[in-house]
Amino acid sequence: MNEHLFYKINQKSTIRKELLEYAVSVTDWKRPLTFLATLCPKEIYLKDILFEKLNDIINPDRLSICIFKIPAKTYYNIHVDSMRTFSFNMLLNDSSKSVSFFKNSKFEHHHCGITELEYEPDCLYLFNTQMEHAVLNQGDDRYILSVRGKNMYDDALKFVKEINL
Ligand SMILES: [Fe+2]
Repeated sequence: MNEHLFYKINQKSTIRKELLEYAVSVTDWKRPLTFLATLCPKEIYLKDILFEKLNDIINPDRLSICIFKIPAKTYYNIHVDSMRTFSFNMLLNDSSKSVSFFKNSKFEHHHCGITELEYEPDCLYLFNTQMEHAVLNQGDDRYILSVRGKNMYDDALKFVKEINL
């Protein structure tokens, strides 16, 4: 089990395609921290009842609901997030030659073990941003909905299980 790293939410999102259409239309991507980002339109976000169910553990700051762009043919090095204890992530692309993974062992002779998060279409993942992770994008531009949580990953995991998600 990799539940200390990520957890697949048990109900599909209904807004992936609409968010993808929006994301590819955006031209003024900002780089507030490390990722290129744009705010997720609230009117699309609110269409998905899933986020209503998760609302108690989502950070209320309007800036918490973002779409990130990871440009084609790029690698985002192993890191932990500084501004987020956990997030809910969803890959927006229909298909993607990209991989997100967590480092799961110490480096020895320049090698370490990894655990991949294989994003399934329309699925939201509770993502432990305090565990070291990276993204390798060998394909086209990649778009991720990322919703910042509040409090700690373990509490969020407990919460989603309690409400059968
Ligand atoms: Fe990250």
